[in-house]
Amino acid sequence: MDVIDLLIQQHREADALFEAFRNAQDDTSKKELCIQLAEALTLHDTIETRWIYPVARRVVGDDKINHSEEEHGEMRRLIADMLRSRNDANAMASKVGELEKLVKSHISDEEQNVLPQFGQKVTEKDIGMSCNDIVRTASDVRREEMSKLEGQATL
Ligand SMILES: [Fe+2]
Ligand SMILES: [Fe+2]
Repeated sequence: MDVIDLLIQQHREADALFEAFRNAQDDTSKKELCIQLAEALTLHDTIETRWIYPVARRVVGDDKINHSEEEHGEMRRLIADMLRSRNDANAMASKVGELEKLVKSHISDEEQNVLPQFGQKVTEKDIGMSCNDIVRTASDVRREEMSKLEGQATL
């Protein structure tokens, strides 16, 4: 299904952004990558929590998805912390490190225990929206979510 390909592609983008952050040589590039990570992960979080997890509950069960949602909550807190610390290079690197650890383990679990089952049993009709519509709507939501995170970050 298209939407599963999209989610997996977004996981690989997150991996690539974390790797780029680890390899970045100067603070300006690191700050830029920190914003890109926040944007990419917020878009992904929006798609999964709004359209994927509610349907996935029926396929993989409440326990699994409650745990996934808790990890997304933790991820949102770390993204806000990361944005808040982006004028302090060491603090920012430490928050990105924490975020990378959480996201990598979440992604690996999701690709083994959620997405394959979801892909086998769910159709776009069950989700109620096409992949293109999901991306379009999620991009609008991301703008609002990012400004909320930025708001938290400047407190
Ligand atoms: Fe997820
Ligand atoms: Fe995901």
